[in-house]
Amino acid sequence: MTIEQLQKKFGIVGKSKEIHDLIDIIVQVATSDISVLIFGESGVGKEVFARAIHAASHRAGNPLISVNCGAIPEGILESELFGHNKGSFTGATDARKGYFELANGGTLFLDEIAEMPITTQVKLLRAIETKEFMRIGAETLTKVDVRFLAATNKDLQNEVDVKRFREDLFFRLKAVTIHIPPLRKRKVDILELVHFFAEKFAEENRTAKPVFSTEALDYLHEYPWPGNVRELKNAVETSIALTKNARISKEIFEQIIPYPKSGTSMNFPVVTRKTPEEVEREFIYRALFELKKDILDIKEMLLQKEKENLEIQDNPDDVQSVEEASKRATILALQKSKGNKRIAAELLGISERTLYRKIKEYHL
Ligand SMILES: Nc1ncnc2c1ncn2[C@@H]1O[C@H](COP(=O)(O)OP(=O)(O)OP(=O)(O)O)[C@@H](O)[C@H]1O
Ligand SMILES: [Mg+2]
Repeated sequence: MTIEQLQKKFGIVGKSKEIHDLIDIIVQVATSDISVLIFGESGVGKEVFARAIHAASHRAGNPLISVNCGAIPEGILESELFGHNKGSFTGATDARKGYFELANGGTLFLDEIAEMPITTQVKLLRAIETKEFMRIGAETLTKVDVRFLAATNKDLQNEVDVKRFREDLFFRLKAVTIHIPPLRKRKVDILELVHFFAEKFAEENRTAKPVFSTEALDYLHEYPWPGNVRELKNAVETSIALTKNARISKEIFEQIIPYPKSGTSMNFPVVTRKTPEEVEREFIYRALFELKKDILDIKEMLLQKEKENLEIQDNPDDVQSVEEASKRATILALQKSKGNKRIAAELLGISERTLYRKIKEYHL
């Protein structure tokens, strides 16, 4: 496969040497079961690359389970990872498989690994090394075949130095390390990403493909992108939502992502300040756009249903309770996100923590 074909397959945009080199590494490491540690600032694409490694591996047909170690409350992280047996602690009314077992045959992606408590790190290392672990409350070991990927935006060596991260686990995980450079260090990727997200957003929202003025593109090219690709995606989408005639000017970006005050170096991440009115206006526009998208999706869904002759009958027995509807939405979101809790929570418009609560509540 050519590099372009691989990029398309993995959904990785960018023509910089850095991105192409990373794709080469992905292809090289994908065939083995070696663990990979992915470093990079927030929003650079760590999860995108983790997905690509899984997709390029022989495990692609099996699940990729993403665990955000920073989002799961400390007290339940171990039972989430290793599972538990019935009655192993108060509230453990059923036996539950943990992520280790769910990822069997596939890949376990430990995101924000630096946030993992030391005690869990010890158990994780043992499980990685022996390929077996114990469910909480169990007396026998369970065997698994899992490939490990981990990511962090922290300097893990520093975390080791200050004794917040175990050195043995650090060495075990960093068999291969990947550094995804921030966007400001690979400026040639900026415009390609702008067009990519603009087209995608316009398509999803059934709006005209936007045209950016040369000044707008220059502005985007020179902006330092402290929030990296995620910030760029948001800025592009907001600019489309805020523009009426699909012609996007530089002024719109001056509002959404103002440059740092003159005198500040452009090489450092900056915190941009917006007036409360600007923030509110942006928020309302974005909310309206999301609403429009939802309505379009519902319309499409209804049309589809009609087509399949599956029209919902006006039968009082069909009325669902709010709880039931919420459970169904949770199940759907988890299916749609292939078990990725962060994406599922985003789809549902709730926090990851609330999602965990719902999963527990509904015994999913
Ligand atoms: N090279 C790329 N091509 C296409 N999309 C990208 C690329 N890099 C990042 N993205 C998109 O940017 C957003 C942020 O990426 P991702 O979630 O992988 O970042 P991250 O490094 O995991 O961030 P965080 O540290 O905040 O978890 C996502 O919407 C992702 O799809
Ligand atoms: Mg991430």
